[in-house]
This record gives sequence, C-alpha cells and structure tokens, in this order.
Amino acid sequence: MRLLITGGAGCLGANIIDHFLPRAGVEILVLDNFATGYRQSLPQDASNLSIVEGSVANKQQVDDVFDAFKPTHVIHSAAAYKNPDDWQEDINTNVLGSLYVARAAERVGVKRLVNFQTSLTFGRPETTPIPNGAPSKPFTSYGVSKTAGEQIMLAANLNVVSLRLSNITGPRLSIGPIPTFYTRLKAGKGCFCSDTYRDFMDMSDFIKFLDLALDENAPQGVFNVGTGESKSIEDVFDQAVAYLGISMDEPVPVVPAGEDDVKTVVLDASETQKAFNWKAEVSFEDTIRKMYEWYDEFGVTAIFSHVKKPDVDGEN
Ligand SMILES: NC(=O)c1ccc[n+]([C@@H]2O[C@H](COP(=O)([O-])OP(=O)(O)OC[C@H]3O[C@@H](n4cnc5c(N)ncnc54)[C@H](O)[C@@H]3O)[C@@H](O)[C@H]2O)c1
Repeated sequence: MRLLITGGAGCLGANIIDHFLPRAGVEILVLDNFATGYRQSLPQDASNLSIVEGSVANKQQVDDVFDAFKPTHVIHSAAAYKNPDDWQEDINTNVLGSLYVARAAERVGVKRLVNFQTSLTFGRPETTPIPNGAPSKPFTSYGVSKTAGEQIMLAANLNVVSLRLSNITGPRLSIGPIPTFYTRLKAGKGCFCSDTYRDFMDMSDFIKFLDLALDENAPQGVFNVGTGESKSIEDVFDQAVAYLGISMDEPVPVVPAGEDDVKTVVLDASETQKAFNWKAEVSFEDTIRKMYEWYDEFGVTAIFSHVKKPDVDGEN
C-alpha cells in the first residue's frame, strides 16, 4: 500500500502513522503545512515515511506530490479550523484543498480514499443520537467549509468513504475538556463545565475502524463513527477528579452552553456497526483513564516524538 496522508502530522494523522508504518509493504507520504500539526510528532528516520511540507490548497504542489508518489490509498485528514473568523483560510484548505486532492486522486487512479468529517456538519441536530446520513446544517466556517469539501469528495469519481467522527481521544490530544481539567486540577486551579454532551471514542477503536475503512471493498458513502454514548462535560470532570484523587469541597460549576456551541453531539453509529462489522469497545471510563495515563507519561502536549517531551501548559 502506498498511503498518502494529508494533514498527517496532526493528532489523528500521527496516530495513524504509528499504526501503519511498521507494516510490511507500506509506504507513507505526509503532506502537511504544520498549521496545527508538528513535524516532531512523526518518526524522523523511517525509510518508508516521506514528509513533504506544503499545502493542499496549492494545486501545483498537490499535483506534483501525487504524480511523484502515486498513492494507492489516501487519507484526507488536513483541515483548517484554528481561526473561526478566517473563512478564507478554511475555504482554501477545506474546500479548494479537497478539490485538488480529489482531482489528483482521480488522475493517478487511487483505489480508496478515506475522508474525515467533523460532526459540526450536522449543525444543531434535531435528533440525538444523530442518525447516519442526517441532514448537514453547518453554521460555522469550519463546518460549512468541511461540508463543501466532503461533498466534493463524494461527487468525485473515486472509491470514497467519509467518516463523521465523534471526539476521538488518545495520544497527543491537547484541546478540549480532557487535557484542560487535567492541567488545571494538577495546578490546583478551579474549573467549570459547560452544560454540553459529547461522544468520546478511544483512539484504539478509531484505528481499528480505519483499518476496515481503508479496504477497497468496504462500503462507500458517509458513516458516523462514534460510541453512541452521551457523556456530559461534568462526567469528564468527575473522571479527572477521581483519577487525580482530588476531593472537592463544592460541586464544580456547570455553565450554560455558549451561543455558538452545540448542546449535544452524539453519533448513532448503528449503521456503521452493521456495514463494517465493527463496534467501539473501550468504555468511557477506560478511554479517559488511558488518556490521563498518557498525560502522566508524556505531559499535555500535541507533540510526541517517541521520546519524552517536557510538559507544556495545556490550557486552551
Ligand atoms: N480529532 C477528532 O476527534 C476529530 C473529530 C472530527 C473530525 N476530525 C477531522 O479529522 C481530521 C484531523 O483532525 P485532527 O484532530 O488530527 O486535527 P489536527 O489539527 O491535529 O490535524 C490537521 C492537520 O492538517 C494540517 N493542515 C492544516 N491545513 C493544511 C493545509 N492547507 N495543507 C496541508 N495540511 C494542512 C495541520 O497542520 C494538521 O497537521 C480533520 O479533517 C478534522 O476535521 C477530527
């Protein structure tokens, strides 16, 4: 397999590389502009890994990389999201980037393309858990541009599956309530929880699914990938307190969800389970515990280079 991973230096990309790189007969090429990913997250001296610094929004570069590497499989993980007011950047990467990747993949005859989609595509969903194939009603720059990018992929003349992902939790996770509670509680700082509910899936369950999703004979189309279990941010807080052995004098404040936030994002993955004969197996408690054990060892940092890194402040 010749696997091209756009955005391969990101959190998911680096975990995917950890999984596939040791396999016999696998060559991997990463195309990443390091906007939110880190070169140091990737093995630096693996003979079957090439790292190209560049943007999916640069058509010439995308064409050159595809023509030279001739991938058989593509994981399209690159995404821009870091500035919610920068619609232009999100459109460049998430819309035009997806177009250039789709066209190049068609041209070189890629056998299977796996696209990653955010659950923000559903906007404020009417039904919880969100059924597979529920209507897309995004309202943020990230959600709107990723939805356009996904539509481009699905309309391409390619063997495509697009995965609507829940909150994937595992090595290098550095944003959201899980690292924030860990960092603040360890520093003796106060916390609050937003009154929201999410679907937390362990990285190992996601990677097992990805193995199935990359198969050329696996189903095409859109699939929810999550646990289907609704967990509140307060549940995450309770796990953090229990893991760190902290006794709380008062209950943690729970504040209403912000205006631009979505109260509940939980995915119904039952169709995915049937179609792929797969099910998320790691419990919520074990998912959070594994994450905290990882932070104990490597610190709250997006960077993990197979050697220990110093702690950085993970408040975000
Ligand atoms: N992690 C999750 O739980 C989750 C949930 C839903 C969807 N997703 C999707 O999965 C994908 C990966 O997410 P992640 O959590 O690893 O995020 P990430 O930010 O860690 O990874 C994204 C990568 O894309 C790179 N990138 C950004 N713009 C680029 C460009 N123009 N050209 C090339 N590379 C570019 C970044 O530098 C980064 O390495 C994204 O498409 C995201 O929308 C992730």
